[in-house]
Amino acid sequence: NEKCKGYSYETLLETANFLLSRITIQPRIGIICGSGMGSYWNEGSLAESIQDGVCIPYEDIPNFPVSTVEGHHGRLVFGKIEGAPVVAMQGRFHYYEGYPLWKCCLPVRVMKLIGVKTLIATNAAGGLNPDYKIGDLMIVKDHINMMGFAGNNPLHGPNDERFGPRFPPMNKAYNYEHRKIAKEVAKELNINNMVREGVYTCLGGPNFETVAELKMLKMVGVDAVGMSTVHEVITARHCDMKVFGLSLITNECVTSYDHDMEANHEEVLDVGRMRQDILRKYVSRLVDRFSQI
Ligand code: 6GU
Repeated sequence: NEKCKGYSYETLLETANFLLSRITIQPRIGIICGSGMGSYWNEGSLAESIQDGVCIPYEDIPNFPVSTVEGHHGRLVFGKIEGAPVVAMQGRFHYYEGYPLWKCCLPVRVMKLIGVKTLIATNAAGGLNPDYKIGDLMIVKDHINMMGFAGNNPLHGPNDERFGPRFPPMNKAYNYEHRKIAKEVAKELNINNMVREGVYTCLGGPNFETVAELKMLKMVGVDAVGMSTVHEVITARHCDMKVFGLSLITNECVTSYDHDMEANHEEVLDVGRMRQDILRKYVSRLVDRFSQI
């Protein structure tokens, strides 16, 4: 219902209690798996390698949005990574599928209500920064909420103080400590040559950007562009979860007119598969470290 602006606290509690009744672990870390991180159920992906996993399909969860993507149903996976209890979203809700932003972000609030303290939000993104190479990982340092500039925000509408304040700050969206740890872990794993740190922006999609749009984004300081994450992070920060963001650079954003390359979804998925092992090792080690602070 488009007129409705969000789920009530009580509705989300019902969802959280349903999930709590199905699990024995207490996840303190929530992971949103983007393309390449398990959203496509690749064997060997992060989500597929969670130990003792209890999988709950979205369609079995009360009040969860109905998936619109044919042949690909999402699910929550509860289990352990490096001994740390986690909940992972295998597949997320995208704005371009037709959900309002507050619906896309329902799982974040549900995670909060089941006790998650730290959100790891991953995605596939196009690299705008000319130094970035395909297959690089970008620790998200900050974001630009382009959809928010146009008046579209997951927090739009009545505010329930039980989640957070009417006017939440957003200047420390991506936790400093977590970014520092992620840079240390990159060195430990000897992948620091492919790990960057930069600014992400989300556009509504589903089309990729025009050359002029990409030139504009480059000018305002965007390093990577995608179609998710920003609204999830806003929702998580509103309810005081700590956030770590990670982008996999799956393609180069073309900002010149004499170029016949075109962005396409297959390439995004290919790079996800190509980096799957590294991503699994990196995020597993991050979960281990984040669970100790
Ligand atoms: Cl080039 N743009 C957007 N919006 N999302 C992407 C992408 C580009 N590459 C992967 N995801």
